[in-house]
Formats: sequence, C-alpha cells, structure tokens
Amino acid sequence: MTTTTLSLEDRIAERPGDFRVLTGDRPTGPLHLGHYFGTLRNRVRLQQGGVDLFVIVADYQVLTDRDVAERLGETVDGLILDYLAAGLDPDRATIFTHSAVPALNQLMLPFLSLVSVPELQRNPTVKDEIVHSRQGSVSGLMFTYPVHQAADILFCKGNLVPVGRDQLPHVELTRTVARRFNERYGPVFELPEALLGTASLLLGTDGTKMSKSRGNAIALRATADETARLIRAAKTDADRRITYDPVSRPGVSGLLQLAGLCLDRDPHEVAAGIGDAGAAALKRTVTEAVNEFLAPMRDRRAAYVREPGLVREVLRAGNMRANAIADQTLAEVREAMGTRY
Ligand code: TRP
Repeated sequence: MTTTTLSLEDRIAERPGDFRVLTGDRPTGPLHLGHYFGTLRNRVRLQQGGVDLFVIVADYQVLTDRDVAERLGETVDGLILDYLAAGLDPDRATIFTHSAVPALNQLMLPFLSLVSVPELQRNPTVKDEIVHSRQGSVSGLMFTYPVHQAADILFCKGNLVPVGRDQLPHVELTRTVARRFNERYGPVFELPEALLGTASLLLGTDGTKMSKSRGNAIALRATADETARLIRAAKTDADRRITYDPVSRPGVSGLLQLAGLCLDRDPHEVAAGIGDAGAAALKRTVTEAVNEFLAPMRDRRAAYVREPGLVREVLRAGNMRANAIADQTLAEVREAMGTRY
C-alpha cells in the first residue's frame, strides 16, 4: 500500500473536496463500540471535515458466510439508526444498499475478468473468514466478494476508503482492478487509498477482540442498565492494584482501554487514578465512562426512532443518488469497453 497516513491526513484537511470516501458495513447486527472506535468515529470526523461521504450497507455481502440472512430488513433499519445515532448526517452522507443499485452490481462482471482464481484464493481475509465460517461448503460469493467490494468503491470513484486492517487486502485488490481496467480499456478509474483507523484493536469485556459473535461487545444501542450489567460481568483478576498491561492482564486492560477511549485519556492514567481500589472500582469507572459517552447517541437514536418512515426515507434518497452515479460510471465503462450499442 502506498499510503503514508500522515501526509494523507494533511491532504484531507487541506482539500476535503478532493476526496470521495466510500466505506460500509455488512448488516449482520447492532454496531458496537469496537465499530465506533474502529471506523464510525473516523467517518463522522471526515464528514465534519467536508469530504463527500458514501456509506454502503453491504446487504449482498452478508451472504458470504451464511445461506440466508434472517430478517435482513430489520437489521438494515437498525444499522441505519446506529449510523444516525453515531453522528452520520443523512443530508451530507449518502447511505445506500447493494441490492438497490443494479449498475454497481453489473460492474462486478467485467471486474471479475480482471483477476485470476489464484489471486482470489490467496486473499488472507477471505481465508480467515473461511476458517471461521460455519457453512458446510464455501460459496462462490465468499471467494468473489472482494471483487464486488471493488465495485462498491469504484462505482462512485471513491478515492479514500476508511477501514480496519482486515480490509486492506480488499482495498489492494480494488487498486489492482482499477489499474488493470485502465490499462486494458483506458482511464476510467482512480486508484483509491486506504485510511486506517487510529484506534488499536478494541478489546471486549472478556479481554479478547470485541465482536458480537463472542458475546463480549457493548452495542451502541445498549441501555445504561445493559451496559452496566455487561461490564459487571467482565473478566478481571484478583490483583487489587489496577495496571495497564494488555499482555498479562487482558481483562483489566481491555476495560482500561475502553474507559480511556470514552474519556479521551491514556489507559495508564485511568489505571493510576484507580490505584489499589480493585476490580469493582475499575468497573464502576468504566461503566460511568461508557454510559456518559453513549448518552448522546442514545438520545439521538430515540429522537430518530420517533420519526416514522425516516430510516426508509434516508435509504430511498441515498439509493437514488447512488443509482444516478452508478449508471453514469457503468456508461463510461461500457463506452471504454466498446459495449454501448
Ligand atoms: N467488507 C466490509 C466489512 O465486512 C464491508 C464492506 C462492503 C466495505 N463493501 C465495502 C467496506 C466497501 C469498505 C468499502 O466490514
């Protein structure tokens, strides 16, 4: 990857209008604090900075590691509410879904012709997802979704992709697809750059990576009571002196990291403030910090929930804009390929 994060940040700050950001999520369930500090916070910051922000709800990509997505509509609505609660502004950001943008999906066909099967098989993120998949056999979509993701990014000529580390192979593939398309058919696409979130991996309440499937995640939509309960049940240890030591004290350190992020303080400092007061005091501090941090999001979410039809209206407007752009890009692609009849 050719990114040097600092100079990229400088360029964004200086000329936000030069950037079109495309990023998104698979609608698989409630977003949690790991998502927030990993990427949502970054999106909101970019939006405030004045870049053109596109957020894809990757509803086809849900089907990579499962045969059927149960109650997808409900999950998508919940995800949009999480976005709005976290501070995405539907008047500034374009929020849309795969399944509503046919021209985006059509780009996948020429793009697939630009990559080899061994290249698809080598993708480390896909390999990892196959290992953790509970499906009996691996679907074709599992191997090809990174190419679909290239279409997600390139359809709108996105040039900046804020993602977590696991998504870097996909951004690299997107660059490969764009480069090969341009070489073969003429210059249509810009090569996007990845923007890595600054937060290190957020640990959950059991001291391992925060993830919904591990049951250790604090959802952005969790109530104050649910949050308190989760933190109370967190794994700690018997040493009353609270120290930040992620290697030998993952449980305690995960909680300190969480409090640190919510309070915008160094976790060592948070630990020093608790001193010898033990795990119960640590948990009280963390609960208070997280609940205070989530309070404005809870309020915003509640306000949006009171506006019936709002979520669908956000998607309708986003899908309309995405379709107009996708149609335009597909027209350019067909022109370049000589398939405009
Ligand atoms: N693969 C991403 C994830 O699982 C979601 C995603 C789909 C995405 N299309 C994208 C992210 C395009 C960035 C850009 O989180």
